[in-house]
Amino acid sequence: MAISSFIRAAVGVSVAGALSVQESAGMQWSTLTNLPRTVLQSKHAESTGCGADFPGYFKIDGLYWPSSYKTGARNRTACKQDCDDAKNCVGFTARKTKEERMRCTLHKGLQQQVDHRAVSYSRCQMKGFACQSGFQFSHAGTWRSGKQIEELDDEPLDDCAKACRKDRGCVGFTHRESKEGDTYCFHFLNEENKQGPWRDPHAHTYSKCTNAADEDASLLEANASQDQSLAPAPVTQA
Ligand SMILES: *[C@@H]1O[C@H](CO)[C@@H](O)[C@H](O)[C@H]1NC(C)=O
Ligand SMILES: *[C@@H]1O[C@H](CO)[C@@H](O)[C@H](O)[C@H]1NC(C)=O
Repeated sequence: MAISSFIRAAVGVSVAGALSVQESAGMQWSTLTNLPRTVLQSKHAESTGCGADFPGYFKIDGLYWPSSYKTGARNRTACKQDCDDAKNCVGFTARKTKEERMRCTLHKGLQQQVDHRAVSYSRCQMKGFACQSGFQFSHAGTWRSGKQIEELDDEPLDDCAKACRKDRGCVGFTHRESKEGDTYCFHFLNEENKQGPWRDPHAHTYSKCTNAADEDASLLEANASQDQSLAPAPVTQA
C-alpha cells in the first residue's frame, strides 16, 4: 500500500515534469532578457507580436521585473490603461499568484531630453526588432540622468556601446560630440534591470512598441498633408 502510493506519487511527479517541459519549450524568454526602457520599434510584427494583445505593446510571458510602482488594477486591460495614463510608463506586469488576485505593476522608462549634439541608442536584444549589436537607434538627443563614463571620453561610439552591453543594468547610451569635436559617452542605468527578471508562469510583462509599417504609413500621410510647404521637414525619428 505504502509502496503503490509512492509509485503513484512518482508517476504524478513525472507527468507534471513532462508538462512543465512542454510549456517551457514554447517560451523564448530567458532570465537574461532585458526589459526595454524605451519604446522599441518592431520591424517584423509576426515575430515580435507587437500589437497582438494590445496595440502598442508586445508581451514577455513568464517573467517579471521588480517594481514598486503599483496600481490597483485587477485585470490586464485595466493595468494597460494605467500604463497608458501614467507619465513615463514604458511597460507593465500583470501577475497572479495562486492565492491572490492579479497585481499590476508599472515600469518606468527613460525620459528624453533635448541635446542637438547627441545620439542615443536603446538596449535591444529581441528578435524582430532589427537590433544591431544589441542596440536600436532611439533618437537624436539624450535622456535624463545619464552617467558619464569618463574613461570613454574621446572614444568612438562603438566602445560606448560595448561597455553598455557588458553592464547588465545599462539600458541605453548616448554619444555626444561637443562643438570642439570632443566626444563623450553616457550610460543609463536601471536597478531593476541590473537585478534581472524573476520567473513566474503567471506573470505577463508587456513592453511598449511601435510597428515600423504603421510609422511608414503615417509618414506618408504626414507628407501628403504637408502640401509642399517650404518649411523644412521636421527631423523626427522614433
Ligand atoms: C477590468 O477592471 C476594470 C476596472 O477595475 C473594470 O471596469 C473592467 O470591467 C474589468 N474588465 C474585465 C474584463 O473584467
Ligand atoms: C515626401 O515628399 C517628398 C517630395 O514631395 C519626397 O521626396 C519624399 O520621399 C516623401 N517622403 C515620404 C516618406 O514619402
